[in-house]
Amino acid sequence: ETPLLVDRYGRVAHDLRVSITTACSLRCTYCMPAEGLPLVPRDELMTPDEIGRIVGIGVRDLGIRDIRFTGGEPLMRRDLEQIIGASRTAADDAMRHLGADADQRVRIAMTSNALGLDKRADALVAAGLDRVNVSLDTVDRQAFATLTRRDRLDDVLTGIRAALAAGLAPVKINAVLLPETLAGAADLLAWSVEHDCNLRFIEEMPLDADGRWTRDDVVSAADLLEVLQERFTLTPAGREDPSAPAEEWLVDEGPATVGIIASVTRSFCGACDRTRLTAEGTVRSCLFGNEETDLKSLLRAGATDDEVGDAWRAAMWAKPRAHGSDAVELAADAFAETERSMGAIGG
Ligand code: GTP
Ligand code: 5AD
Ligand code: SF4
Repeated sequence: ETPLLVDRYGRVAHDLRVSITTACSLRCTYCMPAEGLPLVPRDELMTPDEIGRIVGIGVRDLGIRDIRFTGGEPLMRRDLEQIIGASRTAADDAMRHLGADADQRVRIAMTSNALGLDKRADALVAAGLDRVNVSLDTVDRQAFATLTRRDRLDDVLTGIRAALAAGLAPVKINAVLLPETLAGAADLLAWSVEHDCNLRFIEEMPLDADGRWTRDDVVSAADLLEVLQERFTLTPAGREDPSAPAEEWLVDEGPATVGIIASVTRSFCGACDRTRLTAEGTVRSCLFGNEETDLKSLLRAGATDDEVGDAWRAAMWAKPRAHGSDAVELAADAFAETERSMGAIGG
């Protein structure tokens, strides 16, 4: 009997998201301040060995089956190949220990801005990476430069092509819905369809670093559908699986799809199957739960696998029911801005 990562509301986490840095090569305004986030001191970051150990415990003892590396920007870590490699080895060993068939492979993915991916995609695949989701909000060069505060659209597009060439398909593209990029949404969808990428639009959540989010400014799924339907025929196609954040639509009868992650207007906390680790090695049970449990310090103090697993399960038991920012009238206490911004949690 595997003691799973269960919370008080009966949800079970099988999906682990590991933030490995707060550094980034872009400065998207909805995510980071212009000067970037404070960097985690090097010796406070989890090492590849520590990440591998935690992944092993998660897969062998706690039912984790999907792992996603996030940031900040994962490619900012020069030892990303070692992190993926240690995680792949630990996950495969754990599955073998459980007597799993060879085809029951733990999926390892990352969410990245793709800058510099062209130089590393092959090595990352060799280390055991299966898939990549790329953050890209617009294919308009000027809009991209304004939004990310860096004029690097071409380098991102190069990174996406390299990921596809390295076999990291299907590539999903994440686009945060913003007033300033809504007019370009149809162009981004056309680009994604042409390049065989699965585009997903995301309602902005109150996780920007500057605390400027307001419920009234959120561009909603409904707003987006109106814009896209001027150019495409969209047919509802449901969710990839019940806990997937995105609802999908077929584009012009398919096979291409577009997804919408409507965290604010159609929140999906009830089906959440995610557990998170910050770059400093603390468990965060929810994007919005400010309580954190420090697994890295346990490891460094010589804790056993069982002790680490127990601490992790206790942290998940306390997971909040929902984030609260979906309420139409935001009661003062309905939700609090997080102490960490998105760039420090990894989405
Ligand atoms: P796939 O497995 O490829 O579908 O990846 P994913 O969608 O789980 O991961 P990705 O990092 O691409 O995240 C896409 C968006 O979904 C990001 O904006 C996340 O913030 C959002 N998201 C992921 N998990 C949660 C969650 O637990 N709660 C909320 N509200 N949003 C989430
Ligand atoms: N709201 C919603 N999504 C966000 N992301 C970053 N900041 C926010 C926000 N405030 C997205 C990025 C990235 C993913 C991990 O989270 O686009 O693809
Ligand atoms: Fe960097 Fe991603 Fe945040 Fe943009 S959303 S600043 S790419 S971490």
